[in-house]
Amino acid sequence: MAQDKVAIVTGASTGIGESTGRALVKAGWKVAFAARRAELLQKIVAECGAANALAVACDVSKPDSVKALFAKTKERFGRLDLLFNNAGMGAPAVPMDELPYEKWKEVVDVNLNGMFLCTQEAFRLFKAQKPQGGRIINNGSISAHAPRPFSVAYTSTKHAVTGLTKCIALDGRAHDICGCQIDIGNAATPMTERMTKGVLQPDGSSRVEPRMDVQDVAQAVVYMAGLSKDSNVLEMTVMATKMPYVGRG
Ligand SMILES: NC(=O)c1ccc[n+]([C@@H]2O[C@H](COP(=O)([O-])OP(=O)(O)OC[C@H]3O[C@@H](n4cnc5c(N)ncnc54)[C@H](OP(=O)(O)O)[C@@H]3O)[C@@H](O)[C@H]2O)c1
Repeated sequence: MAQDKVAIVTGASTGIGESTGRALVKAGWKVAFAARRAELLQKIVAECGAANALAVACDVSKPDSVKALFAKTKERFGRLDLLFNNAGMGAPAVPMDELPYEKWKEVVDVNLNGMFLCTQEAFRLFKAQKPQGGRIINNGSISAHAPRPFSVAYTSTKHAVTGLTKCIALDGRAHDICGCQIDIGNAATPMTERMTKGVLQPDGSSRVEPRMDVQDVAQAVVYMAGLSKDSNVLEMTVMATKMPYVGRG
């Protein structure tokens, strides 16, 4: 079990971020829960216990907001060992020629630029602290490998996350910084609620898809986070066993 280790989890107000933050606290970590909806974060932190958890209202697409998140975490817990780059969003499923440019930019700002801004601040802390180093786990997706229909913004940004992960793994080596990625398929969170009603398939049909317990994702992240600095799970895919991803026509 990890002891006296400090984590920042972005997108921690619901879903995978919330569950992973709670699981990290249970595993002995001190956790800064970050997202825009402060009232949700306060409730989670009250339940986790204020000694081990901190709520920070943060918009990952805003550089000053991200800087403040890392400064508050350092001030409260003294160092940083883990960044779970988890905050993310999708866009409405429309043909790419109909996607408003503003919506494209919003998704890029959160899913890619937000991850980059958090990565930069984490690198600054990791390099400056003693002992040096830490781990960054990026939340990719099955969409980092294969698109769903009409998902150009989400799929493009999630493919880009894979590039970011590999750059972290390479550039981080000299400073004991590990870069890794978890690619999730169909965890039961608010983002996948629509799958219970039916989602568009490549053949034009709509189909209800199986989902998996979000706790299984949280436990996978706790495992990746708990490895020694000499070991790294570069990429892990955790998916609903019966989801329609593996296979071909
Ligand atoms: N569920 C799945 O099956 C699945 C599969 C593949 C990948 N993922 C990835 O997992 C991550 C979490 O998704 P989820 O399923 O847990 O969905 P979710 O419950 O909708 O969570 C999204 C989280 O991101 C936060 N967020 C959105 N924009 C933000 C911003 N500008 N600044 C800070 N936080 C922001 C939201 O909090 P606020 O609204 O309070 O800011 C929320 O906590 C995403 O990156 C998603 O792409 C999920």
